[in-house]
Amino acid sequence: MGAARQWLRRLDLNMAMEFEKDTLDALPKALQELERGFASLPGSAARAPGLARMSEVMQQVAERLKDNYPYFHPLYAGQMLKPPHPIARAAYALATWINPNNHANDGGRASSAMEREAVAEIAAMFGWKTHLGHLTSGGTMANLEALWVAGQLHPGKKIAASAQAHYTHHRIASVLGLPFVEIPADSRGRMDTHALAAQVESGEIGCVVATLGTTGAGSLDPLPDILRLRDRHSFRLHVDAAYGGYFTLAGNLTAESREAFDLIGQANSIVVDPHKHGLQPYGCGCVLFRDPGVGALYKHDSPYTYFTSADLHLGEITLECSRPGASAVALWATQKLLPLERGGEFAQGLEACREAALSLAKRLVADSRWLVPFAPELDIVVWAPRADSPQRVSELSQKIFDAAAKRNLHLALIRLPVTYFPALMNSEGDSSMVPTRHRASKGAMRGRGRQKRLRLAKELAKLDPREEQALAAEVLAGDIMFSEEEPDPETITCLRSVLMKPEHREWVERILGLLDAAYREAEF
Ligand SMILES: Cc1ncc(COP(=O)(O)O)c(C=O)c1O
Repeated sequence: MGAARQWLRRLDLNMAMEFEKDTLDALPKALQELERGFASLPGSAARAPGLARMSEVMQQVAERLKDNYPYFHPLYAGQMLKPPHPIARAAYALATWINPNNHANDGGRASSAMEREAVAEIAAMFGWKTHLGHLTSGGTMANLEALWVAGQLHPGKKIAASAQAHYTHHRIASVLGLPFVEIPADSRGRMDTHALAAQVESGEIGCVVATLGTTGAGSLDPLPDILRLRDRHSFRLHVDAAYGGYFTLAGNLTAESREAFDLIGQANSIVVDPHKHGLQPYGCGCVLFRDPGVGALYKHDSPYTYFTSADLHLGEITLECSRPGASAVALWATQKLLPLERGGEFAQGLEACREAALSLAKRLVADSRWLVPFAPELDIVVWAPRADSPQRVSELSQKIFDAAAKRNLHLALIRLPVTYFPALMNSEGDSSMVPTRHRASKGAMRGRGRQKRLRLAKELAKLDPREEQALAAEVLAGDIMFSEEEPDPETITCLRSVLMKPEHREWVERILGLLDAAYREAEF
């Protein structure tokens, strides 16, 4: 790092946090321009009531909003929360002076056109030249539409999604009255395609949901294998890329991840959330269908809309009626400023997030206090404190989470299958008798037979073969105890960090410092 950059960084770290406000200047100017578009109208005296008290109430609003985690700050490295780009904020606000409703061209003429353009750019990002698609209030609604279409085309057939898929898929299936089957996930949090193969053999699966970027760990379901299965069995493939979709633009994916993203266009439908990695305020999701013909399924008759144009209205291809035109305006503006192209500024932001995650994971792997089950596929890192039993791992994770929050470092917690952590399992795949290295009083070992101790000595040797002899001696002497009494948990509470801000790359060191302090506090 150059000296000037280092100095700037120090300066940055020592300054109190300030919201970026300069970009607000663009709003009044744009508002004046917008006003000119309506100059032919006669003046209107309409005044909103209560304006004299507005400033006072706004102060109260600001006061109330202080009660929040600092989602916008790099020390917020917990859940999926990313600040919108200033242009999205400004364009959204500007659009509210018109307050268009994209249910139909009547409700939002310009914003409907802008929605179509912005959505076509997202479809092009996945290689689709033709498509049918639109914005939704979020990923759940977008997935609901995709599964609704699947249900229309394969009535009564099952929806299959992995155990690590977003929880709403199961719920959506039940809302749609479709049967649902959960496919187990492997030890990297990806759909187990052998288990999927067994299910599709039955011929009962109508739609497989493949997640590219699971909510928990950012894992990518093995799309090449799933597509091979689709070649043999005619199920629909829906890709839930609500979180991960934009990473198709990143230039620093592993070859395996790249392959999955390169194949995404072969799906029948895709969901991607601009309000996750697309720099948009909530709620902005997007659903895309490869075959525009599915639009016919939405056909309905409405006696009170769609009068001013013969074109297909967005309201004719959406399940929702009223939808915020402002969302489309914000997305359109953001994509104008930062086009969805590989190597562009937007893509570089995603690459920085991934670098942040890789760098954090690398440092955790090198530190014997932590267990990292797998390398991040996107920009989400999951890890756990090494401890002598799964229960202790969970307790310690919770304490570290709390101690970190006290230091303004906001992480997230996640329950992961204990099978992701071979170091916490014994040879029978049982986590209840994990040999521990904490010293026991001789009394605590009373009643433990020689055979049992020998078995434990072997287990310990597997964990650390270099210390085999010494450990075996200690176990036989009854100096090491193990936690046998604890029930056998299937999941453990781990730490999780979603590093969705490009700035996170520069903050990894600082995050690690605070994590270290939190660990030390939690350990005692
Ligand atoms: C993979 C995935 N799908 C769907 C959703 C649901 O999206 P939303 O919260 O926007 O409804 C999420 C949310 O985190 C997600 O990560």
